[in-house]
Parts: sequence; structure tokens; C-alpha cells
Amino acid sequence: MRILLAGKNGQVGWELNRSLSKLGTVFAMGREDMDFSKPETLRPVIQDIRPDIIINAAAYTAVDKAESEPDLAMTINGIAPGVIAKEAKKIGATVIHYSTDYVFDGKATSPYNEENPTYPLSVYGNSKLAGEQAVTQAGIPHIIFRTSWVYSLRGGNFLTTIQKLAHTRKQIKVVDDQTGTPTSARAIAESTTHILGQGLNAGTTKSSIFSHPGIFHISCGGETNWFGFAKTILKLSGLSEDTEVTPIPTSEYPTLATRPKYSLLSNKKLKQVFHHEMPPWQDALQECLGSAPK
Ligand SMILES: NC(=O)c1ccc[n+]([C@@H]2O[C@H](COP(=O)([O-])OP(=O)(O)OC[C@H]3O[C@@H](n4cnc5c(N)ncnc54)[C@H](OP(=O)(O)O)[C@@H]3O)[C@@H](O)[C@H]2O)c1
Repeated sequence: MRILLAGKNGQVGWELNRSLSKLGTVFAMGREDMDFSKPETLRPVIQDIRPDIIINAAAYTAVDKAESEPDLAMTINGIAPGVIAKEAKKIGATVIHYSTDYVFDGKATSPYNEENPTYPLSVYGNSKLAGEQAVTQAGIPHIIFRTSWVYSLRGGNFLTTIQKLAHTRKQIKVVDDQTGTPTSARAIAESTTHILGQGLNAGTTKSSIFSHPGIFHISCGGETNWFGFAKTILKLSGLSEDTEVTPIPTSEYPTLATRPKYSLLSNKKLKQVFHHEMPPWQDALQECLGSAPK
């Protein structure tokens, strides 16, 4: 099995590079090998490697910056995945792609399922929705995993930001009126690998698990808000003694991009089709914090 992984240095990409190796030969690519801001240049790389599966973990993820760089965000998140999908079609490859809870407007009051109408509130959300549509419309075997609130011990994300702030501040203010589910990059990568592995073990990768192409929600179990997430990070990191976390409304922490107020994703379809259960978010956080810093 030849697996082309794009975005090997990102949170999810880095974890995928570790976990996918048990499934086959992984050709792991970073920005220097595949530049998504120049989508046409992706074609020869795919043709050279001729993978069976292309896993795209690369994305423009700077949610606020995207508001001032809409063209770049759309090229990387919306156009490049379409080029990849069209190239995959030529060689009969399957595409695994990732998307986001930010395709929703957050007006729901119960967890979003895959059929709920999308209505992104931000440039980032719009660009990711365009990527979903491009992959879907290519008419290839594919899975789009929509996930939420991704963190890891690597790079800049909510977890590492809160830990850093705890070392320099006595008080941190965090919004408590946005509901969602933190999801570790490792849980996403290991779940992706497990689901792909099910198909490989059955010897039917292309015909079996991909006979259910489409979008799947894949976030950890449970729900919280950013304030609750911050409190739990500090508690499990042994930092809650020195730092007080104060809840504030979103109106007191304005950002360039509007976030959905409620973005819980239902994993029901993931369970029904792949018989796969995601860990509760607190367990995944504990597992992440207990792992060696990367
Ligand atoms: N982060 C979240 O909270 C979140 C939430 C929901 C869904 N998602 C989705 O989950 C997937 C994985 O996200 P993540 O958190 O792992 O993202 P991440 O850590 O920001 O990693 C994104 C990767 O994309 C690469 N990249 C950016 N611009 C590129 C370009 N022009 N050409 C090639 N590569 C480029 C980055 O390369 P460099 O390392 O060189 O910068 C980075 O390695 C994405 O589809 C994202 O939209 C993320």
C-alpha cells in the first residue's frame, strides 16, 4: 500500500506520519515538497508517487489571519484539494481529507450531523467548505473527516498557549460561551489509521470501507467550552495552583473571524459505519499530556 501524506509537519500530519507506517509505505510531504499555494505543482508529485491513498492533512489554519488573506486561504483549502482529487481520479487513488466544525454557523442546540446544512461564518470556514465540495465533486472514493478544536503538544494551539500563559500570568481570561469538543491530533490520526486498517485487514480497502464515501464527523466524546478546556488543561498539567482562570463572554474577546457559538459534532455515523468510538475529550487530553513532548 502506497500512502501519500501531505502536511507531515502539522499537528495531525505529524501524528499520521507515525501511525500510518503500520499500513504501508508512507511518502510524507511537507510544504517544501508540496506547496498548496501553487495547486498545479501538486500534479507531478502525485503522478511520480502514484499512491493508492492520498491523505491531506495540510491546510491554511490561521483562522483570524484568513480574514485578510481570503485568496490564499481559498487556494490552499479550497482549490488545492480539488486538484489533488482530480489527480487521484486519474490514477485510481482514494483521498482522505480533513475539514472543520467551522463550516457550521453554530446556531444549533444539538450536535451537528453530516447532513445538517453548512453556513460558515468566516473566510476560513468558507475555504474549508470549498475544499469539501471539491473533493466530493471529483467522483472518487474518499472520506472527509470533519473535526474540531484540534490540539497537540507541538506547535501553537490552545493547549500550548494556555500552558505558556500559566507560566507568565496569575490570571487568564477565557471565553465560556462557545461550546464544542477538544480533539487531540493523536486521536484523529490513530482513528484514521484504525479505520483505514479495517479495510486493509479485510483486503478490501477500495471496495469496502470506501463504499461509504462522504463526510464523517470525528471529534472526541463529550462537550465543554474554552473556559472548561483551559481549566482542565491547567489541572491535568499541575498548573492550576498558580493561575486563576476567569470566564468571559465572547463579546469581551473580539476576534477578526467569527466562531460558531455551538459546534458539537455528532459521531453517530462514524460509529454506525466504521464501528469506531472516539475517546472522551478528557481522556484524550490526559493521554496527550502524559506523552513525551514532541
Ligand atoms: N487546528 C484546529 O483546531 C482544527 C479544527 C478543525 C479542523 N481542522 C482541520 O484539521 C486538519 C489538520 O489541521 P492541523 O491542526 O493539523 O493543522 P496545522 O497544525 O496548522 O498544520 C497544517 C499544515 O499545513 C501546512 N501548510 C500550510 N500552508 C501550506 C502550503 N501553502 N503548502 C503546503 N503545506 C501547507 C503547514 O505547513 P508548515 O508546517 O510548513 O507551516 C502545516 O504543516 C486541517 O484540515 C484543518 O483544517 C483543524
